Amino acid sequence: MTDQEHMFASIAAAPIVPVLVIEDLAAAIPLAEAFAKCGLAAIEVTLRTAQAIEIITAMKAAAPQLYIGAGTVLNEGDLDAAQKAGADFVVTPGTTPELIAALLDSGMPALPGISTASEALHLYELGFQRQKFFPAEANGGAAYLKALSGPMPNISFMPTGGVTTANLTRYLELPNVFAIGGTWIAKPDDLNAKNWTKIQDTATDAVNMARAFQELTSAT
Ligand code: 3PG
Repeated sequence: MTDQEHMFASIAAAPIVPVLVIEDLAAAIPLAEAFAKCGLAAIEVTLRTAQAIEIITAMKAAAPQLYIGAGTVLNEGDLDAAQKAGADFVVTPGTTPELIAALLDSGMPALPGISTASEALHLYELGFQRQKFFPAEANGGAAYLKALSGPMPNISFMPTGGVTTANLTRYLELPNVFAIGGTWIAKPDDLNAKNWTKIQDTATDAVNMARAFQELTSAT
């Protein structure tokens, strides 16, 4: 198994990826330490804040066992910065021809974002077997992904956008979903209040719920 396959297998075994919008560099170490204790394999730090790149480097140093993805990668500049910061993988909300070329050139493990069957097929033909389905709920949700699993059984998705504990089992029961992502685990109020314990508890509950659901469905 390649390092990339090992990483995605670890993520699929603990299939919750918190999507983080972190403003404060000082939050990096306590948050990385909190997430390292949750049973999670990976987190995604979005490049939506001024300090996101430094935060990725600090989190990776504080919790090297946690896979850290850079999210909201929009162009080649973002991709370069994420790679230099030490991100383990990148996530994009959508793609442009330039971004696809940069992803292919970089060799970075990537979850390019799609919202249509044509985009999914195009990226699959270029070698992207795993993709982000975004924004999931606004684009037909689990029913849409279920419909793709028939004609495109070899593409595996990480839906994000409106996914929470209220609907995550609808996605996790699908054969073409390997993980789900969302911001609900680390809400802005809890981040601002430095409520690391609450964030850790929410992440632990989510991953435990997902694993229990996986065990239940694999046993039936
Ligand atoms: C993303 O960046 O992947 C999504 O914006 C996360 O969506 P959510 O805030 O609905 O979880």
